[in-house]
Amino acid sequence: MVVLISGEGRNLQAFIDGIDAGIIPARIEAVIANRADAPGLARARSAGIPAEVLSHDGFASRAEFDAALAARIDLHAPRIVALAGFMRILGEDFVHRYRGRLVNIHPSLLPKFPGLRTHAQALAAGEPTHGATVHFVTGELDGGPAIVQAGLSILPQDTAEALAARVMQDIELRIYPQALAWLARGEVALEGDHVLRHGQRLALPLSLADLEPAFR
Ligand code: GRF
Repeated sequence: MVVLISGEGRNLQAFIDGIDAGIIPARIEAVIANRADAPGLARARSAGIPAEVLSHDGFASRAEFDAALAARIDLHAPRIVALAGFMRILGEDFVHRYRGRLVNIHPSLLPKFPGLRTHAQALAAGEPTHGATVHFVTGELDGGPAIVQAGLSILPQDTAEALAARVMQDIELRIYPQALAWLARGEVALEGDHVLRHGQRLALPLSLADLEPAFR
């Protein structure tokens, strides 16, 4: 697996911890950040995982950056490429190349609130619940077939920051490691625009109720 980050790397850390605990049958071959100041790089290095920086500054176009990124990724021939807070939009050639292997987590109950500042959007919309979605990346920004999705209640006193912290802690850090375990075991796969679970098309994303005990 190769993990792409841009920031804190809390999701990355959950992958590292899950692999160390033996509940995610995978190995992170490399972590690649598009920013040299991504704190998540230190998490990779502390875990002995090769951590690389590929800054988008050095490239004349998005396509050239994507091509350079793909070249770095392909050195590891990963079965899974996990976007974990990777804050760049990837072009269709890149997405096509990794289709079925490329996953992302978006901090909303997609299709609600694609884009940025999702927690503030949910609060402003007066939503009763909010959460996160792990999905295959298939071209539509913050879209793509959803693997697992879970929400929690928004509290009256919630600020965007408090809500983001709770969604991260109670939702993201559970559903993303679980999704990676299912993917690594081949129990979840992409077929066309549908997610297969044990070979059956999912009508709805999996939910907290589907999580194995180790991820609850
Ligand atoms: C997470 O909230 C994720 O949903 C969003 O960006 C944030 C990344 O956090 N895409 P971290 O870098 O994993 O701590």
